[in-house]
Amino acid sequence: MRRSLFAAVVMGVLVPLVALAQTPAPPAAVEPKPAVPKAYVPGLEQFMNVILIEHNKLWFAGRAGNWPLAAYELGEIKEVMSDVQDLVPVFKSLPLADMMDAVIVKEIADLEKAIEVRDAKKFAAGFDRLSAACNACHRATENGFIVIKRPTRPVFTNQDYRPHR
Ligand code: HEC
Repeated sequence: MRRSLFAAVVMGVLVPLVALAQTPAPPAAVEPKPAVPKAYVPGLEQFMNVILIEHNKLWFAGRAGNWPLAAYELGEIKEVMSDVQDLVPVFKSLPLADMMDAVIVKEIADLEKAIEVRDAKKFAAGFDRLSAACNACHRATENGFIVIKRPTRPVFTNQDYRPHR
């Protein structure tokens, strides 16, 4: 009698306990989603790589005499740069937003004028000055190993740079 009671206790209490210990822990309660998702701010190099693509497109648009496209690409470069100023105003304790104003605003304005008057020669010279300004900031931020130059071919071959109506 005693024995079977003991056995019953073992079977009835311990066995389920052991089984419980072996079952994997239930998944942690899913944390409630915050009302506003965390904002994703891309790294500076991601902005810069977009600027690099637009810099390439800008060159081939200008070379093809597609002035509306050239104006568009330069406008996009300005837009990304202004995003950089808003989202990465300070980079490795350097005042990146202020540096951008100091180093490249004039070069962009000059190139805009060349595009406006549809002057291929001024465009080429202005493009080189723009690239020199990119490099000036790279040197000033200890990134002098990142060197921007005139491209020799379009990054993409599935965009037609010739003027179209
Ligand atoms: C105000 C400063 C500034 C200006 C102006 C600037 N850059 Fe940069 N650029 C940087 C910094 C800083 C980095 C390094 C980013 C990092 O370490 O994540 C960089 C990195 C880059 C890179 C390397 C990205 C990679 O992952 O390989 C490219 C390409 C680049 N810049 C293109 C340009 C071009 C093209 C222009 C001009 C049209 C330009 N940049 C103008 C500051 C600048």
